[in-house]
Amino acid sequence: MHGLHTLAGRKNSSAGPGRKQRRQVTEAILLVGGKGTRLRPLTVHTPKPMVRAAGVPFLTHQLARARAAGVDHIVLATSYLAEVFEPHFGDGSALGLHIEYVTEDEPLGTGGAIRNVASRLHSGPDDPVLIFNGDILTGLDIRALVHTHETTGADVSLHLTKVTDPRAYGLVPTDETGRVLAFLEKPQTPEEIVTDQINAGAYVFRRSIIDTIPAGRPVSVERETFPDLLAAGAHLQGLVDSTYWLDLGTPAAFVRGSADLVLGRAPSPAIPGRCGDRLVLPTARVAADAKLTGGTVVGEGAFVAEGARVFGSTILPGAVIEPGAVITDSLIGTRAVVGERSVLTGTVIGDGAIIGADNELRDGMRVWCDARIPAGAVRFSSDQ
Ligand code: GTP
Repeated sequence: MHGLHTLAGRKNSSAGPGRKQRRQVTEAILLVGGKGTRLRPLTVHTPKPMVRAAGVPFLTHQLARARAAGVDHIVLATSYLAEVFEPHFGDGSALGLHIEYVTEDEPLGTGGAIRNVASRLHSGPDDPVLIFNGDILTGLDIRALVHTHETTGADVSLHLTKVTDPRAYGLVPTDETGRVLAFLEKPQTPEEIVTDQINAGAYVFRRSIIDTIPAGRPVSVERETFPDLLAAGAHLQGLVDSTYWLDLGTPAAFVRGSADLVLGRAPSPAIPGRCGDRLVLPTARVAADAKLTGGTVVGEGAFVAEGARVFGSTILPGAVIEPGAVITDSLIGTRAVVGERSVLTGTVIGDGAIIGADNELRDGMRVWCDARIPAGAVRFSSDQ
């Protein structure tokens, strides 16, 4: 519990519902240090938040949304492939932000990463600090979450979202005022599904709470910090916001999120250019009779040849789609090649991989970076 025992005493003197001091959120921590194993092989060379969604590194959408909510100082908590963030975003001024970078020597987990950047924050002890997982695409009304935090006098406020099948998630039941009652592990039996509310990965912390997280060792904010805070009598407030929400942790979710950004189903101020149902980045080339639909993105320098059809997919920069290929709900890595007439559905092709002509790749198949699949090597007979 390391310091959490001090909460009960401090709570009595903290800003509670009776002292409605409204503060704006001006600082945010973004957690971007995960290995992104579920998104491999796209995360072999690129950390998950830097994989391109709707034409820009995914993180750009989150930075732009935080800026739009009034945040001007962001600390990126980096670990895996930490060196690629700063060359891209620099000091953040292009986005109207001041961005700082902190790299963990060893991955510290979500809670440890938050604690590790505490010294970079300028906020006062009671000020609200926004914290985001770096792989969440959401239309959350950030100002509403801050407003809830301030008016309830909570120590931590969490965005909760409702899901139809909560079995894969930790559950967060609340009372009728929205106060969090428990953090429950993934339910194993129907009786354990006591709510459809789950932790959506965006929080507002009272600045001083961050200092109560133990320093210098791995800590999970979900499994350790939040349950410990509850046990110590802290006030954790949930805000159920049922707007667009998607965890982009898996290839299927990532490609859908990118398409939803292009289609305008997911909001972002950072989409480069007007989209319609496709987004073709400058320097990409698309043959006149190629068909791009369903939120497809064609990255810089990529080429889609004649007769190719691409639906709801992301073609990363420099990739080549040869004549007559048919690609659906797939992610095609940087400089990868999809051969003539090949049919790809729900697949991930790693950077630099070459898929020869006349292959058929199906749901869930992943081709590793720089792999080569000879022409006609993968086929499914019609009775399968
Ligand atoms: P998977 O390996 O596919 O589970 O992905 P992940 O490594 O991103 O893990 P997860 O989705 O659980 O992480 C949630 C968020 O926390 C992501 O934005 C991660 O980048 C971030 N994160 C996870 N672990 C760490 C860590 O040790 N340090 C930092 N700085 N961020 C982390």
